[in-house]
Amino acid sequence: MSAKIIGLPWVEKYRPNKLDDLISHQEIISTIQKFIDNQQLPHLLFYGPPGTGKTSTILAVAKQLYGVKNFKKMVLELNASDDRGIGVVRSEILNFASTASLHCKGFKVIILDECDAMTRDAQAALRRVMEKYTKNVRFCLICNYLGKLIPAIQSRCTRFRFAPLSKDQMMPRINHVVEEEGINIDQSGMELLLKLAEGDMRRSLNILQASHLAFNKVTEDIVYKVTGRPNRNDIRKLMEWLLNQDIKYCIENIQELMIENGLALNDVLTDLYEEVCEADLPEIPKAELLSTLADIEYRLNIGASEKIQLAVIVAAFSKVRNTVPRMEE
Ligand SMILES: Nc1ncnc2c1ncn2[C@@H]1O[C@H](COP(=O)(O)OP(=O)(O)OP(=O)(O)O)[C@@H](O)[C@H]1O
Ligand SMILES: [Mg+2]
Repeated sequence: MSAKIIGLPWVEKYRPNKLDDLISHQEIISTIQKFIDNQQLPHLLFYGPPGTGKTSTILAVAKQLYGVKNFKKMVLELNASDDRGIGVVRSEILNFASTASLHCKGFKVIILDECDAMTRDAQAALRRVMEKYTKNVRFCLICNYLGKLIPAIQSRCTRFRFAPLSKDQMMPRINHVVEEEGINIDQSGMELLLKLAEGDMRRSLNILQASHLAFNKVTEDIVYKVTGRPNRNDIRKLMEWLLNQDIKYCIENIQELMIENGLALNDVLTDLYEEVCEADLPEIPKAELLSTLADIEYRLNIGASEKIQLAVIVAAFSKVRNTVPRMEE
């Protein structure tokens, strides 16, 4: 647990320990702080995309409530790696919830992290436990997708949505890590890092650490390399071919580019999609291309051949190119 352990991943080393360390979600934090101050903590439900601080927030709340000393006795933490069937609700959760603590006054906390992995039976069994033992225990359920939780559980909790973090919110925290670790990062590297993180703080720290470890500096090129994402200039070149060259030329050159850079078609697809969205194309051909790209993504995910799907991309562009009078860039 200590931050001094050498080799600790930065996501853990820089996990916020106090509510004050958390970036963003100020309204959520101040609301929870009020609950705590008034000693009226309800059952909580945190949901939202990965790496936005859900687990960190509840751990910080629990540490604030009990201090490090009593944390273990007062908090039961279960995540997706623990069994999530009805058995756990009837044994471990029920045991913990039904016994008052001798160590500390007040309620205990049960954290059910990644609770969307709980079976429906387990969720149904949890309903009663949540109601019956509210005096002894408060639940904090955490998940990525609300839809996987039965409505009865949702209605027993106060819900908080953790939105993806904005670049402006992530930047100061990343700069803090950059300073602490003495990282050599340039502007282009930082911008790309923030873009690829897509609001996921965990991803940004992982990319930062991997780039720093592998190359001792963080630039745009290095971030592309470490993440295995195609370089933006390569994608622009590829788009240029697709819009202007014949089918054979496109297939050969794109294949070569992918081999040279160790790219999978799926990686290319994501960036190509962005490029098509931004391209100056008439609406209908653009819509056709986007729809083809979506089909290809689906086919690749169910195991279709990369070679043939690449040909489908090239063919789609060729068709579109022939339906509009002149298209450059
Ligand atoms: N709001 C935040 N403020 C500061 N650091 C953050 C924040 N959100 C995430 N982080 C960083 O990212 C790491 C992962 O965050 P956390 O485990 O809280 O994410 P999560 O929302 O629970 O994600 P998941 O849904 O994948 O479980 C933390 O250890 C921390 O380093
Ligand atoms: Mg989590």
